[in-house]
Amino acid sequence: MKPATRLVSLGREPSDGSGPGGFVNPPLQRGSTVLHTSVADMRERVRRAMSGDDSGPVTYGIHGTPTHRAFLDAMTALEGGHQSWALPSGLSACTTAIQAFVQQGDQVLVPDSVYGPTRAFCSGTLSRWGIQAGYYPPDCGARIEEYIQPNTRLLFLESPGSLTFEVQDVPALAAAARRRGIVTVIDNTWATPLYFRPLDHGVDVSVHAVTKYIGGHADLLLGTITSNAACAPALRALIRALGLTTSPDDCWMALRGLRTLDARLQRHRATAERLIAWLQQQPEVHAVLYPALPQDPGHALWQRDFSGASGVFGVVLDPAITAGALQACIDGLRLFGRGYSWGGFESLLIPSYPERDHAPRLPLTRLIRISAGMEDPDDLIADLLAGFTRLRAGPGGVPA
Ligand SMILES: Cc1ncc(COP(=O)(O)O)c(C=O)c1O
Repeated sequence: MKPATRLVSLGREPSDGSGPGGFVNPPLQRGSTVLHTSVADMRERVRRAMSGDDSGPVTYGIHGTPTHRAFLDAMTALEGGHQSWALPSGLSACTTAIQAFVQQGDQVLVPDSVYGPTRAFCSGTLSRWGIQAGYYPPDCGARIEEYIQPNTRLLFLESPGSLTFEVQDVPALAAAARRRGIVTVIDNTWATPLYFRPLDHGVDVSVHAVTKYIGGHADLLLGTITSNAACAPALRALIRALGLTTSPDDCWMALRGLRTLDARLQRHRATAERLIAWLQQQPEVHAVLYPALPQDPGHALWQRDFSGASGVFGVVLDPAITAGALQACIDGLRLFGRGYSWGGFESLLIPSYPERDHAPRLPLTRLIRISAGMEDPDDLIADLLAGFTRLRAGPGGVPA
């Protein structure tokens, strides 16, 4: 089946009461205590769980309800993985996936373009635990060998980077890591499992901020980790040891989000492309950072590895624009929300400061990030036009 069809049909089991003879959607099941039919049944379920077999009925709600399983099985199938887990946020999915494979004395390699809080975890929390964080240029490809140390245990990827949108050469990075027994973890949020399947390219573990496009409605905080068979035991052990769990309601919402992901992403991209075409005509716009653009430095890799593009992108503005003018431009916007996150139905526009988090090799002083939403693109362009009028008015900008 093609991916769009799989989005509609995955996670629906006649045994859940969904499908022919039942409702279209699986039921939402909440619960902590699980009742066993006998002591022998208890023992058998515990034995299976202890042996690492999560395919049967669980012993306790912390290990997931059928609602969790419906969503997570769909994610596993979409990512082509062995097993998936739900985490309370995208950030916790990133940090848990890293923690599962490292210990004191190890080094973790992270791209310079990585999401700021992931970077903060690596250089702050991990370093307190005696785990070193090293940073590499996201576009280094096979030159990653120059950054690998004898104690490198994990290579983290994020492609494209969520502020600066560099596409990484994932197969080259994964192959170099695998040759040295280094685990690879990728933050695959931008592409969603619909447009990029990292495990097919040699990556061990793929992470999503479900909060973004999969949730899609700015009303959900959730993350997932999907692993190949080799890395699953370490992840399973850590997630169980830490008692990490999520609400079944959130997983139900996430499964609901998957149903419309294909249509939403097409709309997000079409709107992004309309906005980009307008932005490229403005003299204050020096570059648009969006891998689907033929002139983008990551375009060739994106075209080789990805099957589509979502609708969040960066806009590099003239560095001579004053902070006051940019602020007036953004503050007066009526349709673009000034909010963190992306992937929801409402368009968002924020100033971003990669120089605050990234190494100095990314000197972008006037950068904005746009998440194209579901509004009519003509209305969004009118809002941007008014914003650029304020921008042009000089240091303080003019009232809208
Ligand atoms: C690339 C990327 N990964 C992870 C996250 C974290 O997701 P959450 O907000 O669910 O913690 C974000 C949030 O903006 C992100 O942009």
